Amino acid sequence: MKRIGILTGGGDAPGLNAVIRAVTVSAIDSGYEVLGFLRGWAGMLEKDYEILTKERVYDIHRQGGTILYSSRTNVAKVKDGFEIVKRNLADLNVYCLVAAGGEDTLGVAKKLADAGGNVVGVPKTIDNDVNATDYTFGFDTAINRVMEALDRLHTTTEAHQRIMVVEIMGRHAGWMALHGGMAGGAHYIAIPEVPFDTDEIEKLCRERYAAGKKYAMVAIAEGAEDPKLTAKLQRSAEKDSFGHIRLGSGRGIAEVVAEELQERTGIETRHIQLGHLQRGGDPTAFDRVLGTRLGVKVVEMINAGEFGKMAALRGGEMEAVPLADAVGELKTVPPGRLDVAKRFFG
Ligand code: F6P
Repeated sequence: MKRIGILTGGGDAPGLNAVIRAVTVSAIDSGYEVLGFLRGWAGMLEKDYEILTKERVYDIHRQGGTILYSSRTNVAKVKDGFEIVKRNLADLNVYCLVAAGGEDTLGVAKKLADAGGNVVGVPKTIDNDVNATDYTFGFDTAINRVMEALDRLHTTTEAHQRIMVVEIMGRHAGWMALHGGMAGGAHYIAIPEVPFDTDEIEKLCRERYAAGKKYAMVAIAEGAEDPKLTAKLQRSAEKDSFGHIRLGSGRGIAEVVAEELQERTGIETRHIQLGHLQRGGDPTAFDRVLGTRLGVKVVEMINAGEFGKMAALRGGEMEAVPLADAVGELKTVPPGRLDVAKRFFG
């Protein structure tokens, strides 16, 4: 029997299990046996997999995380990595591999396709920074988490007449801080794409207090920068196998800005890193449905022999786009989008 494989790589995103379920059910209906490789590319390199059945994936679309586990293994960093992957796929009689991941995992998938492997991609990341798709799954759940957190933080922050500085995931792209901050009523939003100035936040806070609105909510992406404060950050020097430093730990941007605001204004200020709370838990309806549609679409692509491509949401419809269009450059926030949010600052 022909087989297809599936793996989930990079930071997990709510909706991954919906993809796994949809791929499994559609592939079995198309006559394939389905191998779920464990821990992303690590399982592919080590031939570590489980056979997925309809019973195994029955209603997993309602759960966050990924039943296949994830890792940030980079095949390009492993000696003869792509040759090993191709050999393992051939040994296991896997006709095509489905890689569900963000820029890094899809980048590896693209290199595997270039090396002659049959592979298709599914765009996943809470950061929403993959090109050639309107949205990645996981993003909607994550921004709802941010919104709920801000809703809760508003009441306690106002009760104490404090400033609250909230650090939101997003190293290079500010989609989560922007959409979560807008939905959650942040009074100021800073994103990595546009350097910010803490003087501006200070002014905004002073004006709010002077106008009798005696509290302030500041939403900052973990990768946002005030060039004057960069020296005060103490981030971990540790890098993952794709060369990314670890943000969201150590003395991050929210802590530094909070200290600065308290010192300058004398107003009691607190900071919080929302961290992995943004990624955990059950997916929203949107992400369950998006993951399901993407999973069904990639199996259609496999049946049509459309390899080296990614299933994507474009204008509400499912499309097959070249992996080359999806990777290489991140989809960052166009500056004009922050201008919309700015109308509601203060
Ligand atoms: O790529 C998704 C993401 O959640 C980023 O927003 C964040 O910077 C990173 O992963 C955190 O990674 P880890 O879980 O490895 O600390």
